[in-house]
Amino acid sequence: MQKQNSGKSLKWLPGNNLARLLLCPLFFISFLTLIVLGSTIYFPRNVFTAPTEISQEQPPLPLSFHSRISDLQAQVGVLLEQVHSDTEEAKALAKFSDHVIHIAVALDKLATRLSNHASNLPSNATEMSNVDEDSSDPEESEEDASEEFISNRVFKAGELKNYTLPKPNRVAGKKTFLGVEAINPSIGMTCVAMASNLDRFMSYKLFGTCPDDWILAQKLMISGCDPLPRRRCFSRTPPNYTKPMPSSKSLWTQPGDVNLLWSHYKCKDYQCLFSNQTVNKRGFFKCSDCFDLSKRGWEVPANESESAEFTIDQVLALKPSEIRVGLDFGPSTGSFAALMRERNVTVATATLNLGAPFNEVIALRGLLPLYISVGSRLPFFDNTLDIVHSSLFLDGWVGAELLQFVLFDWDRVLRPGGLLWVDRFFCKKEDVKMYVEEFERLRYKKLLWRVVPKSDKLEDEFFFSAVLEKPIRT
Ligand SMILES: *[C@@H]1O[C@H](CO)[C@@H](O)[C@H](O)[C@H]1NC(C)=O
Ligand SMILES: *[C@@H]1O[C@H](CO)[C@@H](O)[C@H](O)[C@H]1NC(C)=O
Ligand SMILES: *[C@@H]1O[C@H](CO)[C@@H](O)[C@H](O)[C@H]1NC(C)=O
Ligand SMILES: *[C@@H]1O[C@H](CO)[C@@H](O)[C@H](O)[C@H]1NC(C)=O
Ligand SMILES: *[C@@H]1O[C@H](CO)[C@@H](O)[C@H](O)[C@H]1NC(C)=O
Ligand SMILES: *[C@@H]1O[C@H](CO)[C@@H](O)[C@H](O)[C@H]1NC(C)=O
Repeated sequence: MQKQNSGKSLKWLPGNNLARLLLCPLFFISFLTLIVLGSTIYFPRNVFTAPTEISQEQPPLPLSFHSRISDLQAQVGVLLEQVHSDTEEAKALAKFSDHVIHIAVALDKLATRLSNHASNLPSNATEMSNVDEDSSDPEESEEDASEEFISNRVFKAGELKNYTLPKPNRVAGKKTFLGVEAINPSIGMTCVAMASNLDRFMSYKLFGTCPDDWILAQKLMISGCDPLPRRRCFSRTPPNYTKPMPSSKSLWTQPGDVNLLWSHYKCKDYQCLFSNQTVNKRGFFKCSDCFDLSKRGWEVPANESESAEFTIDQVLALKPSEIRVGLDFGPSTGSFAALMRERNVTVATATLNLGAPFNEVIALRGLLPLYISVGSRLPFFDNTLDIVHSSLFLDGWVGAELLQFVLFDWDRVLRPGGLLWVDRFFCKKEDVKMYVEEFERLRYKKLLWRVVPKSDKLEDEFFFSAVLEKPIRT
């Protein structure tokens, strides 16, 4: 945790200006009150819903409360140093500051109790033992408390503390080739708002078999706890796993049931994922027909005024033999990547497992699945990809600000001259203008561009497709 250098912010204080010295801590206390009252609004509520038994009303955790208190303590400490003189006024001030610190410590304890209460609701459902639960009192020295407040106070699972603590190099004090003396394993910031579920995720048998809880992990990720902490347990494998098909066949062959773990899907075999009989019972709706691998790609209607789709060959013809590596973003079993593979283009497919084994199927086809949430920065370096393709994903639900962060991240990873292919983005008619403006904000060259009414709806929704070229910026 970065501990901010609290001393600096108070340098403006004139030496013995009593009024300001008194006002400053008071201001902070009222600020604290505001934070406490406002924390319900500030922290996202746990959005977990019914399918598994993990749903549990979780009050928001007063994390910002903790950090404000740490700030307050540090700043009062600075004040005390500054008034180190023997005048009566200074002594009175010192006494006053002392009281403020006491109040802060009391508030701190209260916050700890609140978060313990919130994250430690007894759960009889799970028989798993906590690994190395550290029961030591979290209030040692104040320094340690502020350095480690997240792992010690918000989270209970000992293994989570062990994971997040800095890992010094084997020879202490020596920097490695990475230029650091320790590795600080990371977790997503929003994890603290889901402490009890993360604690459950990190409660497992050390060096044993991991719990079958990927669905919990995915819900944490989608809720913003991404990256998740690593674990030290063995992943579960399908018991009768057979070796995958050779890549000459795997692209368009349905994977065998035995190579998938079905425990958290509504479907219990592959046939169910695309059969006519199970259409409304599959438990997923995005890309609902994409498990039918007998369809080679998608059929593009010939009539342009009815279709918002471009064909792959039409797009690749814009940049002959220049498109070699790329990313496909959106719920998919990798058919876009498969078609690109046949054209010697390497494409990673970023998708979650929303109700169906999307990632496993992509991998069984011999393609590269990328398992990340939409809230995360892409794991690619700047100016590296030739193409970013996205379909059926960023639709009318996405707000302008999130869309901007996503688009600018795609811009970052695209190379100059690279292509951004927005495939059938759909939204309400009245939103088309707003969304189009967001895409135009990138100031890309429009190579292909089409807006058509969505024919399966009552004409109030529109499809929007575009192939845009990233400029060479000088
Ligand atoms: C937890 O289990 C114990 C013993 O099995 C039981 O006495 C207790 O009431 C349970 N607590 C809750 C909250 O269900
Ligand atoms: C977890 O961390 C504690 C404190 O550093 C340490 O004593 C304990 O051995 C660690 N547990 C494991 C399993 O490494
Ligand atoms: C794995 O194979 C064994 C033996 O053929 C069989 O009894 C078992 O049901 C199979 N398990 C699964 C999940 O297919
Ligand atoms: C599924 O339904 C469609 C039309 O609803 C039909 O053309 C097709 O033959 C059906 N497929 C199977 C396997 O039943
Ligand atoms: C294309 O579709 C539009 C709208 O459905 C129709 O009016 C037009 O005649 C079609 N054009 C061709 C060439 O089929
Ligand atoms: C892909 O690469 C292979 C091997 O270099 C080549 O034989 C084939 O023609 C290429 N396919 C396309 C569509 O460029």
